[in-house]
Amino acid sequence: SGSSVQGELHLTAVDGGVLIVGEMSGLPPAAELGFHVHAFGDCSAPDASSAGAHLNPGQSAHGGPATPVRHLGDLPNLASDLSGNAKVETTLTGATLRDGGPNDLVAKAFVVHERRDDHVSQPAGDAGARIACGVVR
Ligand code: CU
Ligand code: ZN
Repeated sequence: SGSSVQGELHLTAVDGGVLIVGEMSGLPPAAELGFHVHAFGDCSAPDASSAGAHLNPGQSAHGGPATPVRHLGDLPNLASDLSGNAKVETTLTGATLRDGGPNDLVAKAFVVHERRDDHVSQPAGDAGARIACGVVR
């Protein structure tokens, strides 16, 4: 609630993961912002707590794209420009689409956080509050 963030992400199954491409706007300008797939496709709570924790079917520790151990849903930080826009083009290794398995991104949620994910701190990279939430359909 009170969020001005908008955007659209398009997901495509590729070899070894899911390609995520899209654009977002209304973000804090010139910022790095934590970005993850969360476990539940439910953005109904004003603070997006309804989306649950990071998608983590493997019961791993939190990490980032460059760490050997990570949650399945751990993504690179979003990088917004001076106008608060961000482009997304990343492949989430290990994720699947519409196979009904534990790594399926359908009916999960993308969440943007108020600050940068350090990809080290547990359990969620010290990225702070959730400022945007969107359900994968
Ligand atoms: Cu998150
Ligand atoms: Zn995580």
